[in-house]
Amino acid sequence: MSEHENCIGASDDWYTPPFIFDALALKFDLDPCSPGANHWVPAEQVITAQEDGLSRDWNGLVWMNPPFGGRNGQVPWLEKFIAHGNGIALVAARTSAGWFHDLAPQCDGLLFPKGKTKFVRPDGSIGGSPGTGVVLLAMGETACSALRASGLGMYLEIQDAA
Ligand SMILES: C[S@@+](CC[C@H](N)C(=O)[O-])C[C@H]1O[C@@H](n2cnc3c(N)ncnc32)[C@H](O)[C@@H]1O
Repeated sequence: MSEHENCIGASDDWYTPPFIFDALALKFDLDPCSPGANHWVPAEQVITAQEDGLSRDWNGLVWMNPPFGGRNGQVPWLEKFIAHGNGIALVAARTSAGWFHDLAPQCDGLLFPKGKTKFVRPDGSIGGSPGTGVVLLAMGETACSALRASGLGMYLEIQDAA
């Protein structure tokens, strides 16, 4: 398990490095998994743990780097993301996991960033090199176009989304 994929009960506060947002060049409408306003995620609105982004309605173009919540804890977040149909999600690229095989084909596009993505701690320090890379999942044309143009890594369009 990677450093940022914590044990149940440990901190979820491993933040997406800003260079990813620079490369995506998008303004998101909502971050439903946020540490709070004034974070560097470029989103108009945020939902925090106290407000519970999983049980709220989502609007517009979403950025989602979900809390880990233990084994398969990200599945309900990914299911909600896919049902919403508009945005970009970042999760560990667990390409042999059942949830990956069930859910990734339902997305419109996938991008595997080149290199290991190091996450940022709340104090601004950078985490160690994780054991695996991440995948960015796109729903909708705005998200697919941003991944395609980002230059972050290998982009794959899903032709026959399930
Ligand atoms: C992996 S961090 C991602 C933070 C930020 N969105 C980013 O991309 O850098 C997950 C965040 O989700 C928050 N969180 C945990 N449970 C949540 C919930 N039920 N609803 C909304 N946010 C939650 C945590 O406090 C944490 O800040």
